[in-house]
Amino acid sequence: MARTYDEHVTPYHAPIARRLLELAHVEEGDRILDIGCGTGIVAFEAADVVGETGVVVGIDLAKRAVQLAADKAAAARLRHVRFEVMDSRALRFPSGSFDAVLSGFGHPLFGRRRCFEEVRRVIGPGGCLVLCTWNPSKAPSKAASSLVREMLERRRPAFVASDVARLIEARKVLASSEEGKETQSADSWVRLFRRAGLSSVETIEETHWATFRGPDEYLAYSFAWGDNERELRHMTAESRESFRREFRERVIPMITDEGLVVDWNLRYFLVRE
Ligand SMILES: C[S@@+](CC[C@H](N)C(=O)[O-])C[C@H]1O[C@@H](n2cnc3c(N)ncnc32)[C@H](O)[C@@H]1O
Repeated sequence: MARTYDEHVTPYHAPIARRLLELAHVEEGDRILDIGCGTGIVAFEAADVVGETGVVVGIDLAKRAVQLAADKAAAARLRHVRFEVMDSRALRFPSGSFDAVLSGFGHPLFGRRRCFEEVRRVIGPGGCLVLCTWNPSKAPSKAASSLVREMLERRRPAFVASDVARLIEARKVLASSEEGKETQSADSWVRLFRRAGLSSVETIEETHWATFRGPDEYLAYSFAWGDNERELRHMTAESRESFRREFRERVIPMITDEGLVVDWNLRYFLVRE
């Protein structure tokens, strides 16, 4: 999904990436690691700020996302940014290699403690980690996202393709596991960082307002990531069209002169040793 994600998701997430840099006080000449970099949105924003005297490395497990990010860096002739396929729970960098580690929604779904122990090692005593996650305790006031979810669940056929079924099942298992519950409250995140030896943690809860031109742009965004993207791929052309029609009708009350404006409630964690 790398290409679709890059086209339909990253433009809307750019302000979030810039906020990560701001919170980490990234400066010219800094060495930055972007974990779970996807197609590189945070890494490219960081590259602008650190300039050619700095260095930015983006890592991700998804090979095609890494390849796409590397192609974009090459096309823009950026020599101080590079991308590698790597697991954030087993970083292949010497201790103290970076001034800051950043992550836009790119923490692993499980094995987070190992990841944060690794982050602690590569930032050394003076460095920081700044990451953001969705805030599950604050529901969006404009419920376009719940509308998409409700429609998907209601329209899902009794028999779904096995990879979609496995994803849905995995998501449920994860949500009910100890690790899944760990990401619900800000306090449990703080405990998680502390267990990895990162004991100075600042939690910042913020709302970002994202404006989509209309229902179709919002659907393109919603179907460009995660289980949704997979589910859309398995829909027939008719079911896609009928989904689109129903969404367009039901979302009308949420549309303003500006378009479809949605609130995204986020948690940022600013973490040091
Ligand atoms: C929601 S995407 C975020 C991508 C990007 N940071 C952004 O803001 O657009 C999460 C990313 O984390 C990556 N990821 C998950 N677990 C990982 C791990 N253990 N090591 C490296 N990357 C991982 C996924 O492959 C995915 O690209």
